[in-house]
Amino acid sequence: MNFHRNHWLLLGTIFFGFIFLGLIIAIGPAYWVQAKVNARPAPQSLTPLQQRGLDVYISEGCAACHTQQVRPIAMDRVWGRPSTSRDYAKLGGPMDVWRPYTPAVLGTERTGPDLANVGSRQPSKTWQYMHLYNPRSVVKPSIMPAFPWLFKVTDHPAVNTTAVPVPAPYAPSNGKVVPTERAKALVAYLLSLHQEAKTTRSPQKSAQAAAKGTAQESQPQAKKTTSSANGATLYSNNCASCHQADGGGLPGAFPSLAGDEVVTATDPTEHIDTVLNGAHGRTIDGKTYGASMPPFGSRFSDAKIAAIINHERTSWGNNAPTVTADDVAKQRAGGK
Ligand code: HEC
Ligand code: HEC
Repeated sequence: MNFHRNHWLLLGTIFFGFIFLGLIIAIGPAYWVQAKVNARPAPQSLTPLQQRGLDVYISEGCAACHTQQVRPIAMDRVWGRPSTSRDYAKLGGPMDVWRPYTPAVLGTERTGPDLANVGSRQPSKTWQYMHLYNPRSVVKPSIMPAFPWLFKVTDHPAVNTTAVPVPAPYAPSNGKVVPTERAKALVAYLLSLHQEAKTTRSPQKSAQAAAKGTAQESQPQAKKTTSSANGATLYSNNCASCHQADGGGLPGAFPSLAGDEVVTATDPTEHIDTVLNGAHGRTIDGKTYGASMPPFGSRFSDAKIAAIINHERTSWGNNAPTVTADDVAKQRAGGK
């Protein structure tokens, strides 16, 4: 057998060598990872609409500026908890016959915020539409490009579509802005981006942690002391996108909180209730709003909710009595 003269031997070696390398370098590790990492308990399949939204997300180049991976460092904390391999294992449902799982669009550039958890952080469809139509209409200093081609301007929106309440300087001079199918799909996809609340540790790891004296129970305490509830920061990260930094809201879209009846009321019950449970369909200062106020009760501790509320009660000319974390706790327990 002469390796140099026998072509079958030469090609055969190359062929099987290639398959062998492929197995140990790529296919083996991929299987190992899929088998080893427990996927989320119930990885939700994307609905067909959300899947089309993922295609729009990719084709519009959103991933050029947005990541979907939160790093375990302090500056990333505003975007969610650190991402783990679990978040990406067996993601979503089949895209088609060839793609049994939904691809994770991790991204590499972060010109804009990370979107791994944007569905929880910004659950308002109305806000998402306004922001896509023109980011400046909701975030004044935004450098994100506008995507007006995802919308139609028409004088007569179809009966089952609601027009996007674009505020004055950004609205077209004539007609109403309505989302196209592509915009609806994209927003459905964005709202599907949720981080699973807690990563359950493997029993081994928590045993190790307990042995080292860094048991999980000690963590919440450490958290409490490091994150002193700062109402102004919490407001600017969670409320200003709609109610704006100056509390003035956006006419026709989000109500002003400056001088607002609920925010300046001596009895804070309704104010606390609004922030805990959200609101929809109220008449505020003679106007109604199509958008909803999202609930924040499950996202923030009593102390943080109190801090946000107090920021609103004492800013922008408001001067109403403040509340304590206990007030919030009582109302939460009371189920109101
Ligand atoms: C040129 C870079 C760039 C591109 C391309 C881009 N964005 Fe953005 N995006 C930003 C920046 C910067 C911000 C932060 C300012 C703001 O909120 O508008 C942002 C903010 C956002 C937010 C709000 C996130 C939050 O935490 O409040 C969403 C949602 C979003 N972008 C979605 C998209 C989608 C969907 C696309 C594609 C259709 C896209 N972006 C394309 C730069 C970009
Ligand atoms: C997605 C946009 C959005 C975000 C984010 C948001 N709000 Fe609202 N908020 C609204 C809308 C819309 C209403 C009006 C609800 C209605 O029509 O019943 C509202 C109403 C309110 C009201 C009641 C006003 C009244 O007179 O009844 C308060 C108080 C309030 N928001 C506080 C907050 C606080 C505090 C935060 C942040 C923790 C926040 N909002 C975040 C959209 C938002």
